Amino acid sequence: MNYLTLNSGTAMPSVGMGLMKLPDSPDTEALIREAISLGFRLFDTASSYKNEAELGRAIRSSGIPREEFFITSKIWNTAQRLGNTEGAFNRSLERLGLDYIDLYLIQWPVPGCYLDTWHDLEKIFFSGRARAIGVANFGIEDLTYLMSESEILPAVNQIEYHVLGGRNDLRVFCQSKGIAVQAGAPLAQGAFLDREILKTIAARHEKTVAQVGLRYLLQLGISVVPRSVRPAHLREDLDLFDFELTDEEMSTIENLREGYRCFDIPSDLTGGILL
Ligand SMILES: NC(=O)c1ccc[n+]([C@@H]2O[C@H](COP(=O)([O-])OP(=O)(O)OC[C@H]3O[C@@H](n4cnc5c(N)ncnc54)[C@H](OP(=O)(O)O)[C@@H]3O)[C@@H](O)[C@H]2O)c1
Repeated sequence: MNYLTLNSGTAMPSVGMGLMKLPDSPDTEALIREAISLGFRLFDTASSYKNEAELGRAIRSSGIPREEFFITSKIWNTAQRLGNTEGAFNRSLERLGLDYIDLYLIQWPVPGCYLDTWHDLEKIFFSGRARAIGVANFGIEDLTYLMSESEILPAVNQIEYHVLGGRNDLRVFCQSKGIAVQAGAPLAQGAFLDREILKTIAARHEKTVAQVGLRYLLQLGISVVPRSVRPAHLREDLDLFDFELTDEEMSTIENLREGYRCFDIPSDLTGGILL
C-alpha cells in the first residue's frame, strides 16, 4: 500500500473502499470483513450512507488494531443547516463504536452554512477526536473563501474525478495548496469499463480496465475509494502497485476526458432527515 501524507501529518492510504450504496445489512458487514482480509484499511463512509454501524462492527471483529485503520465519515447537509455539527459527529462516532475518526469531511458545501460547519470541525480537530478534517465537492471559490476565513487548511477535498471527467483546474488548485485530492466515483460507476482504447492499454499491462482507470488517478497523485460488492473486484482494486502507465498512455487517457459526471449536486442541499 502507498500512503499520502496529509497536511495534518496523518498518513492516508492512497487506496480505500467506498461504502456508498452498500445497505445497512449483515451482508455489508461481511463484505467489509472480506475487504479487510484482502488488505483494505481505508474505508470511506458517511452518515448518509447508513452503514457506519456495520463498518464499526467489521473493524472490531477483525482483531486488527484500530490504529491500522483509516476511517473517513462525513457530515450531511441537514445537520449543517441545523448547526448540529457536534451532534452529527458524536452520532457517527457512536454508530461506528470508535472514539476517534481519522478524517471527517463536510459532504457538500451547503451555501451559507459551510463556514460555520468548518469552524465546528476545527474545534473537533483540536479536541483530537478527528485526526484530520476536510471537505467534499468543494469548488475553487468555496475553498478560497473557506481558506481566507479559517485557521486550518482542509486536509482533503473529495471530488468526482475519473478518466471521463472531473475538474482538472480544481485538482491542480488543491494540490498546489497542499490539499490532497481524493476521487469519489473513481470508476465513474462503471461508465468507462467498455472503452476499447482502455482495454488495449490494460492488456498491455496484463491488468483490467478498472485497474488502469484507478492507476491513472494514482499517477496524478489522487487517492481513490472504489466501491464493489464483489471480492474479486475488490482484490483488483487494491492490486495497483506493480505496474506503471507510460507518459504516452497517460496522455491517451487524458484525451478521453469529456466532462462526464455520474453524480450531481443534490437538488435540495437542505437534505432530508437528520442523520
Ligand atoms: N463525497 C461524495 O459526495 C461522494 C460521491 C460519490 C462517491 N463517493 C465515494 O466514492 C466511492 C466510490 O464511488 P461510487 O460508489 O459512486 O462508484 P465507483 O467506485 O466509481 O464505481 C462502482 C462500480 O464499479 C464497479 N467496480 C468496482 N471495481 C470493479 C472492478 N475491479 N472491475 C469492474 N467493475 C468494478 C462496481 O461494480 P461491482 O460491485 O459489480 O464490482 C460498481 O458498479 C463511494 O462509495 C463513496 O465512498 C463520494
